[in-house]
Amino acid sequence: MAYYSPVDFLQDEEFIEGMKRRQNGELSLTWMDAATERVRCSPQSPRRGMTYKDINVGSYSTDAIPEVIRSHRTMAPRGSALPLGLPDMGYLVNRKSEVWANNILALYEESKTRQWNASTDIDWCALPDCQITDDMEKAFCQLCTLLTEVEMIATDLPAKWIPLINHDMIELKSLLCMQAVDEARHTEVFRKRALANGVGLLQASVVAEHALKGILDADTYTQASVFLHLLGEGFILSTFRNGEAIAPTAVDKKIFRLVMQDEARHVSYGMMHLKYFLRAHPSRAEEIHFMLDEAETLMIGLLGSAELAEPLIILAGKGFGREHIERGVELTLFNQLKAIDEYFGRLEHAGLEGRRERSQFTKLLAMLA
Ligand SMILES: [Fe+2]
Ligand SMILES: [Fe+2]
Repeated sequence: MAYYSPVDFLQDEEFIEGMKRRQNGELSLTWMDAATERVRCSPQSPRRGMTYKDINVGSYSTDAIPEVIRSHRTMAPRGSALPLGLPDMGYLVNRKSEVWANNILALYEESKTRQWNASTDIDWCALPDCQITDDMEKAFCQLCTLLTEVEMIATDLPAKWIPLINHDMIELKSLLCMQAVDEARHTEVFRKRALANGVGLLQASVVAEHALKGILDADTYTQASVFLHLLGEGFILSTFRNGEAIAPTAVDKKIFRLVMQDEARHVSYGMMHLKYFLRAHPSRAEEIHFMLDEAETLMIGLLGSAELAEPLIILAGKGFGREHIERGVELTLFNQLKAIDEYFGRLEHAGLEGRRERSQFTKLLAMLA
């Protein structure tokens, strides 16, 4: 099939003449007269270097992004001159409030400085010397199987939306790229951990994957973000915060510490995005509640599944004996109640009122009482 081009430059005599003139040293220099803002930006802190905040000035700044980007849907850098004829990229997210948050620039810079390497920053060679029973190793490998299964959704979801978001929101798109890299690393570290100490991967989870599918199927970016960043990753963050208590070895404690700092950024963005969204669209709070009614049900399925709940109980109780299990059940319930409370707290901080009363978690807790 012949390659189609909107302009066949080889048939364009004026273009060819222009090339010939340039070869003879006759330059047009039209770009020199672009009516763009002249600026001179420099790092506020030599240690941090040139950050996005340092160049967040005038017509180049994030304040220059209008709430609705009507003027263009092109790849032109924000602040540049826009000649006629730029192609329409077909972006579907052209409203700032549908993706924005007030901490994007800082989170992007932090995400670069806190990158780590799952191959070299974990002391894999120390694992065989760690004291761990075969049963505890199996419980941890089941948890790693589940985590390997769920982590990649937080790569797939940003990757699905990035090409649909208007290019003017370049800092946000860059932050989502960093999240995708973070989550690829999380998938990597848990997969490696499962294979590193004699057991391997164990059982995949039907309910986990239905929950992940629900995130991908969300109707809008904001709905997907609340589901992923606040509900899904909020619970993952709370689990990692308990890493000290459930990690069977010092190597595993370090893994949890490292993934936790990444998750904290993702959750922080999600919370601040919901806040920005609700301030711009207070009447759309019901839309978020409606989505959460279903999303929380999927999450309850995951939290109550044998593939997740049982290894958590065994790891928290530090063993399989009756006393260990009882202790594990008590600690896991305590941790999950804390995670639910933190989730409500984040929604309230973002300005979503009334979730505690309406939540599926509240209904579940009443049924279990
Ligand atoms: Fe993650
Ligand atoms: Fe994450």
